[in-house]
Amino acid sequence: MNWIKEAAAVIQKGGLAAFPTETVYGLGADAMNPEASKKIYGVKGRPSDNPLIVHIAEFSDFLCIADQLPDAASELAKAFWPGPLTMVVKKNEKVPDETTGGLDTVAVRMPSHPIALELIRESSCLIAAPSANSSGRPSPTLASHVIEDLGGKIPIILDGGKVGIGIESAIIDLTEQTPVILRPGSITKDMLQDVIGTVRIDPGIAENSSIQPKAPGMKYRHYAPKAGLLVIGGKRDGVIAEINKRIEGLQAEGKRAGVIAADETAEEYRGDIVLSIGKREEEEIIARNLYGILRQFDESGVDMIYSESFAAPGMGQAIMNRLLKAAGQQMLVV
Ligand code: TXA
Ligand code: MG
Repeated sequence: MNWIKEAAAVIQKGGLAAFPTETVYGLGADAMNPEASKKIYGVKGRPSDNPLIVHIAEFSDFLCIADQLPDAASELAKAFWPGPLTMVVKKNEKVPDETTGGLDTVAVRMPSHPIALELIRESSCLIAAPSANSSGRPSPTLASHVIEDLGGKIPIILDGGKVGIGIESAIIDLTEQTPVILRPGSITKDMLQDVIGTVRIDPGIAENSSIQPKAPGMKYRHYAPKAGLLVIGGKRDGVIAEINKRIEGLQAEGKRAGVIAADETAEEYRGDIVLSIGKREEEEIIARNLYGILRQFDESGVDMIYSESFAAPGMGQAIMNRLLKAAGQQMLVV
């Protein structure tokens, strides 16, 4: 059985199929079929004002759905596609409102994962795909995460093993005079500026911002672990002392504490469950493990999770953006 062909046939008929991308698993449907797009919202329990990313396999398909394609779009595509960058541009009338949540713009990405590309080509469709989690859960980085959330609700899940990047694509809005990063990702501001010059970061995504983020999905607290989550930043020894002090306090009340720590410090903690996320300087590994670790804690029944902070230049910004969202922006610097 060729499962990619099977999945392509399901999508052609207006159904849903989950598939791996290099960032996270996606839940795909024919982007040009309003009824198919609508199914995605139903299965995920996703608010209908939260638009979907359209996945393409050929640059020419970008031209087919964009109303105006700024020069920056071609330059960024040349530099980063196929890959983990989503561009928001003005849409034309071909793209149904169901796919864009009623916006006059469309978010487009050419993924690099070979299964994703083959699925798009086999289906001869443009594939609308959000992350394949149920709304409010961490994005899936393994096929088993998709089964946990959506098993029994969709006919087919293509298993490509653990994804390579582990956090969702960077999103850049090209509809404004100065391009704006709506969601940080593994392609950083510096990398984007090297190609197209000055880029801004949406002020709405800053920690504790009171402004609405421009990407509708960024306003939702995507995911709150079942246990509380507090991020603790600062110098190494201070962080260890603070976390251990809090663990002791919790344990004295008969409660269980979890810790998310870098490999270098994991052994210093006296938590009931301590999960090591990767070496501090290996941002790629930390990003790849983050969502899986958050899922593991949901299964482990701890009352409170303390996480070290992983702020760093480069991809650290995207990691902290996701971690702080999961923590409801609760961070303490010692
Ligand atoms: O890496 C990824 O981008 C993954 C994989 C599957 O490709 N997809 C993904 O999709 O993360 P989703 O639906 O979980 O996140 C899409 C984000 C949401 O925050 C949504 O609000 C924003 O993109 N978005 C989509 N279309 C937009 C538009 N026209 N304008 C502004 N934001 C948009
Ligand atoms: Mg998502």
